[in-house]
This record gives sequence, structure tokens and C-alpha cells, in this order.
Amino acid sequence: MSALRVRGPAAILRGELTVPGDKSISHRAVILGALAEGETRISGFLAAEDCLHTARALAAMGVEIDGVGEPEMVVHGVGLRELRDPGAVLDLGNSGTGMRLLMGVLAGQDFAATLTGDESLRRRPMDRVAAPLEEMGIQVTGQGKGCTPPVTVHGGKPQPITYHTPMASAQVKSAILLAGLYAQGTTVVIEPGPSRDHTERMLRAFGAEVNVDGLRVSITGPPRLRGQEIAVPGDISSAAFLLVAGLLVPESRVTVREVLLNPTRAALLDILERMGADIQIANRREVGGEERGDVTVRTSELTATEVGGDEIPKMLDEVPILALAATQAKGQTVIRDAAELRVKESDRLATTAEMLRAFGAQIEELPDGLVIEGPVHLNSAKVNSHGDHRIAMMAAIAGLVAAGETAVQDAECIATSFPGFADSLGELGAEVTTDE
Ligand code: S3P
Repeated sequence: MSALRVRGPAAILRGELTVPGDKSISHRAVILGALAEGETRISGFLAAEDCLHTARALAAMGVEIDGVGEPEMVVHGVGLRELRDPGAVLDLGNSGTGMRLLMGVLAGQDFAATLTGDESLRRRPMDRVAAPLEEMGIQVTGQGKGCTPPVTVHGGKPQPITYHTPMASAQVKSAILLAGLYAQGTTVVIEPGPSRDHTERMLRAFGAEVNVDGLRVSITGPPRLRGQEIAVPGDISSAAFLLVAGLLVPESRVTVREVLLNPTRAALLDILERMGADIQIANRREVGGEERGDVTVRTSELTATEVGGDEIPKMLDEVPILALAATQAKGQTVIRDAAELRVKESDRLATTAEMLRAFGAQIEELPDGLVIEGPVHLNSAKVNSHGDHRIAMMAAIAGLVAAGETAVQDAECIATSFPGFADSLGELGAEVTTDE
């Protein structure tokens, strides 16, 4: 098991760099590319474990993909209904997105397929996708009450439904919309709050009829999807670690170029600005239906804030790194309405609190959030990632702020979303090493 070692307190982080492609957009690009007619050329694909599992699962179902493992990929689409029975269980590794989105796709195939994953994914609830698919007339079987993996989707002819999702979840919404591709008529998803909208944007770009009216999204099937060129912007959820590092380490200035700035994803930047962060955005522009820009941060004195409601889904994966920033902000930061974090790669409310406490932070867990006091002096620590990439990277950034050498054990999970994380920190001037 590899460990990441970080020496703090780091002095001055400086530099301009890019981060790997957005994970959510990469998953959708390879999936829609597979279901389209013709070629889909993807640049900036996140060649990290999560998205590679999705690409390999599609390859196992007969989709030819050139350049798997590279940022430049060509997907030779087979059309909506021409996926092949994989003849073996599909392994989605650590990826909840890969599994849930593929469940939607499998609903419309003429075979049954079983999906599984690693220890963490096998604990995560799939009933949130199984329930709407069953309402569409598709049989889904999984393990126990939460319909945890392995799950089997018995493909068929999904019927259009109108479905009110119990939680704002882009994975659930996307699974229903993907199943809706195969339903004759209009499938409607109504969410209790806004979740990321990449599926809607990309389905439209591929030629599907998708309508959005506030929290109501509909798709009319079956469409003809046509192969596209997709340029994936940098993942804001990865950039977040480098940006918070730049804010917390004295005298720093860090620029991350070509970062996804879709408003359903970028709330962390608004929240940090509210806390007093010096953040400049240059070259803001739209490429292929998604906004991107170059984000520069300078070391800033932060003050506490309150975060909750509709802001949470727009920075869901950034809560752990925001919690670290809050340990250095003056006052009490309260994060609420974030109970969904309990069913991520780890129980992220518990693992964030436990991790930051190991560094000396004052942090309390609420059933749906965190209360963090600041500013608090952090000490270096020897910690374990709990197999969760975002917890591991948050701990590494905490190690830059803390005095002494921090060791993050089981750090290989970082490769699920941000290969090259340690090198990027090194490029900015941090002292980081990896050992086996
Ligand atoms: C994702 C949606 C989010 C997020 C996950 C990626 C997606 O989960 O946490 O990392 O690509 O659709 P929700 O389904 O809770 O929105």
C-alpha cells in the first residue's frame, strides 16, 4: 500500500498548471459516444481508474475504443441498441457514477448484465436507481435492502415515467434519462434540488430531445444520437485541492487553467470568495456547451461561513477540502444538508471529521453536516485514507499547512480521480514524496 509523504509548513506555492479532465464529463462522453452512431473524439478524457472502468465495461459490451488509458480517445459508437452481452460480470471498481449510469443504459438492452465493484462500491446503495428502473418495468436485483452490488439489470423495454427523485443526485437523474433514451415517449425526472447537469447538456449535443424547466428534466425517446467531438475541461473537483492549498500556504499564488466552471459545479469558488478568498477568473468561455476558465488564487485570510441547501449539490465532492479551509478561517463554519456524503466512497462526514481531528482540528459531526472552529494550528499526522481519494488528497493538503512530516497511508486511491496529484503539488513547490 503506497503512502504519500508531505512536509509542512510549506513555504510559498507558485505556479500555473492544468488538472486532469473532469470525471463526470468523461464518464458521460464515453457512454454517449458508445451509444451514438459514428465516431466520438474525446480530448482531455480523465484517464484515471474510475473512468477507465466505465470505458472497459463498454469495451466488454462490444464497443471499440481507441486510446483507452490516454487523454485522447476515439469511441466507435455502436448505436443505442447494439451493445453485446458481455458474458461476464462488469467490474466498475470504485466508481458509483460508472455503475449508476450504466444501469440506466443496461435497462434498454436485450440481455441481462451484472455489475460489481470494489469493497467501497459494494457497500453503496443502488436502490435509488433500481426503484425508478423498476417503475419503468425493468427488473433489477441486488443485495439486501439497499440493493447493493453485485446488481443485475435485466434489460428490456423501459416505459416512460414521471419520477420524483427523493434526493438531488445527478447519478440517479442521469440513470433515468439514459433509460429514457429507450422509452417510447417522454420520461420526466423532477428533483428536490439542483444537481449537476452534464448529462442534459451532452445528450442535447448528441442530438437527443431534452427539455429543462427548473428542477424538471424530460427526455423524449428514442432519439438518434450522433458522434461528437468533446473537449473535456479540467476537473474543478481536482483543482479544488490545489486552489485551497494556494489559499492556505503563505505568500502563494496558484493558477489552474481550463477549469470547468459549470454553475452546477462551481459553488466552492463562491463560498471561498464569501469567506474572503482572493480568486480571479480569466478567459471564462464556453467550449462544447460547458463553461471553463483559468482560476487564480492568492493566499487569503478567511472568515467562517454557513453552507447548506441548494449550494451543497453544487460542491458535493468539495466538502472535505472546504472543511480543511474552514479550520484556518476565523469563526465557526457550519455545513448542513450534506447527509448524502454519508453514502459516498466513504462516509465523508465521518472520515472528514476523523481525518481533520488527527491534525488537531476542532470539528464536530452533525447528522447532516459538520461544525468547524477556526483558525486552529494543525500538527502533522500519520493517517489512513480510508480508501477514499478525496479524503486522501484533503489530508495531503492539510499536511502542507501542518508543521512536520505527514504520511497519508493507502494513498493509491488518489489514482481513481487525480493521477499526477503528487507531481502537481511538487510542481507548485511543495515537498511531496510517494513510497510503496
Ligand atoms: C456525480 C454526481 C455526484 C458526485 C459524483 C459524480 C456524477 O453524485 O458526488 O462524484 O458524475 O453524476 P450525486 O449522484 O450524489 O449527485
